[in-house]
Amino acid sequence: MKTLEASGIHTYYGESHVLQGVDLGVEQGTVTSLLGRNGVGKTTLIRTIVGFTRARAGTVAFNGTPIERMSAHRIARLGIGLVPQGRRIFRSLTVEEQLLLPTSWRAKGEWTLDRVYQLFPRLKERRTNLGNQLSGGEQSMLAVGRALMTNPKLLVMDEPSEGLAPVIIQELERTFKGLKQTGLTVLLVEQNFGLAMALADTVYVMSKGQIVYTGTATELADAHDLRHQYLGV
Ligand SMILES: Nc1ncnc2c1ncn2[C@@H]1O[C@H](COP(=O)(O)OP(=O)(O)OP(=O)(O)O)[C@@H](O)[C@H]1O
Ligand SMILES: [Mg+2]
Repeated sequence: MKTLEASGIHTYYGESHVLQGVDLGVEQGTVTSLLGRNGVGKTTLIRTIVGFTRARAGTVAFNGTPIERMSAHRIARLGIGLVPQGRRIFRSLTVEEQLLLPTSWRAKGEWTLDRVYQLFPRLKERRTNLGNQLSGGEQSMLAVGRALMTNPKLLVMDEPSEGLAPVIIQELERTFKGLKQTGLTVLLVEQNFGLAMALADTVYVMSKGQIVYTGTATELADAHDLRHQYLGV
């Protein structure tokens, strides 16, 4: 069974018809990358999946449970962890305080403060620093660590490498590969083609609110014309 199955999604902002019949599935224990240029609707699809934005039509199933009418809070509790675009770090809370939020409903599981610090030793060094004292890379690690602390069954990351230097992106890539080896199911939105391809089992390419390509990472690597047309790489 698929962990996530979005079918026939149509999402609007007012009159603007952003998602025009999107189908996307994520198999358990795999990494699925969603690629596409700026403004094609990647974040809108993520927001629709996690319940921040309602689809006007279509269904989203999470481990077989329909979630398209659920609140974002309930969806998070069911086990979808989000690393939002822009990271949404609290500027005036420490690293550790942010990792320990939310306290009320966090699912029990393998992810604890210690394990997150093992994964990101840098966060341990910075644990008493405030959000506004962190570098971009550290903020990205914190956003990932915060999502892992909820012990998600599906980790959704929206451009975790945005704005980071190549050497930091390489570091993230190593960490994400380690996460993948734990069997975590991941949906990764990326504009960094190398990072997306290094991690993905399955790749989706979006253009103007529609999925224009689905295949394995190897297949997309060979699809030169398509890559050029839709991704510019
Ligand atoms: N809150 C909003 N209200 C109205 N229009 C919006 C809103 N958010 C996004 N849009 C528009 O919807 C379209 C899709 O935006 P979206 O953020 O989903 O794209 P994206 O693929 O995530 O882009 P990026 O790579 O820049 O993050 C764009 O045309 C954008 O301008
Ligand atoms: Mg986006």
